[in-house]
Amino acid sequence: MGAGKSTLGEEVAERLHRAFLDVDARIEQREGSIPELFEQGVFREVEERVALEALAMPPSVIALGGGAVETPPIREALRARATTILVEVDVETAWQRVSGSDRPLAQDEQEFRELYARRQPLYGEVADARARDADGVVLAAGGVTVSSVPADLVVAHGPAELIADERVLELHPAPVAATVLAVPGGEEAKTVATAQRLWRHLRLDRSGTLVAFGGGCTTDVAGFVAATYLRGIDWVAVPTTLVGQVDAAIGGKTAINLPEGKNLIGAFHWPVRTVIDTALLETLPEEQRREGLAEVVKTGLLAGEPLWELPDDELVRRCAAFKTALCLRDPYDRGPRQVLNLGHTFAHALEGGAGYEAVTHGRAVALGLLAALRLSSRPTDAVEEVLAPEPVRVERERAWEALKRDKKSTGGELTLVLLGDEGGFATNVPEADVRRALDELIAD
Ligand SMILES: NC(=O)c1ccc[n+]([C@@H]2O[C@H](COP(=O)([O-])OP(=O)(O)OC[C@H]3O[C@@H](n4cnc5c(N)ncnc54)[C@H](O)[C@@H]3O)[C@@H](O)[C@H]2O)c1
Repeated sequence: MGAGKSTLGEEVAERLHRAFLDVDARIEQREGSIPELFEQGVFREVEERVALEALAMPPSVIALGGGAVETPPIREALRARATTILVEVDVETAWQRVSGSDRPLAQDEQEFRELYARRQPLYGEVADARARDADGVVLAAGGVTVSSVPADLVVAHGPAELIADERVLELHPAPVAATVLAVPGGEEAKTVATAQRLWRHLRLDRSGTLVAFGGGCTTDVAGFVAATYLRGIDWVAVPTTLVGQVDAAIGGKTAINLPEGKNLIGAFHWPVRTVIDTALLETLPEEQRREGLAEVVKTGLLAGEPLWELPDDELVRRCAAFKTALCLRDPYDRGPRQVLNLGHTFAHALEGGAGYEAVTHGRAVALGLLAALRLSSRPTDAVEEVLAPEPVRVERERAWEALKRDKKSTGGELTLVLLGDEGGFATNVPEADVRRALDELIAD
């Protein structure tokens, strides 16, 4: 009570494009005022009916009254059919918010405090996760935790094995006490040969959990191995790079490369949990940080907020929540998630033009963002100040051919993600304009 569930619920539902239902509001709408239902002694009964109906609906966001969990059938339904997130609030704030209202259980401060204390253990029992704001609820819904690696991961429930970047293992303690399968850093981890070695060395049965500990390359290959080993086992991602924490370990895409191209073999296989500990970034070399910063700036542009100005903890949390919301809306990348490609068409073209060696992905994305902003007639200062991209020396024709291969032209136009007042959107842009924007990124 007084935690702000109704306001938060509405915001979260909007971000996930799900229906929103506030159980108390529905009761008042259908059955009359809550104080009167309390007086008649029928409130809990009515609440049970409305809450169970709501929990049987297609996936939606439901705000449940603070006392609903005292009804055993509601607790059972929550356990069976919902991800339950406890919206945390301290008793002072809650009392300030509800005192003076007509809420029947908030008439006396002493009683309110007792009720608050009495319900805490029950909340602890039903909650799958806890949150204080909309980002927190979204992260919890996507199985993402932003905190130091929790103790219960150190001794994972059930059998676990760890796939870890060998460099990261030298720098940080393993997040789980388990057999370790080391992989090299970088794209060398994402090969068929590495995947095969991992498949052959794993000893887990289907009840086992694979834990991935490393950057995007490690989580991509470990996630793919988890998706395919014994037709799919659970995995937990513990990303250790900025790229991993704001991007690669979120959204369920896993992949390995072929000589013909990057990420050509893969599967959608969401980790059961992603545990993000920003303290792991302390050992990350500056050039690796810049790789991730390009994605942070992209996310900030899409979200319409200068997220790159925030301290690490907040920045990672906000970016991770933004991507999580989009991926929960579009788990199989069939539409809305495409906006995450802002700047990436140009980036891939520059990487293609350079033969994937000379231009780092982060630098290519920084330049790609510049081009996308120019085509969107929007200011480029954030990209210039934070990422300072310099034009690259790549073969113009080769880059252009790579871009056209990536994006099929229809009627002399290419479909790109641009930026508008409401965020990113896909639109057709005349080829000549795209070519001009690409050329501006290339040094003579
Ligand atoms: N699945 C997705 O949705 C998705 C999204 C974005 C990127 N990706 C993939 O992610 C990969 C890039 O990820 P990346 O940039 O994290 O690369 P990476 O995993 O190769 O890590 C970069 C380097 O940093 C080192 N490193 C990792 N953590 C460290 C730490 N805490 N301290 C010091 N060194 C550390 C690694 O050993 C490696 O040398 C690409 O293959 C890309 O395709 C996937």
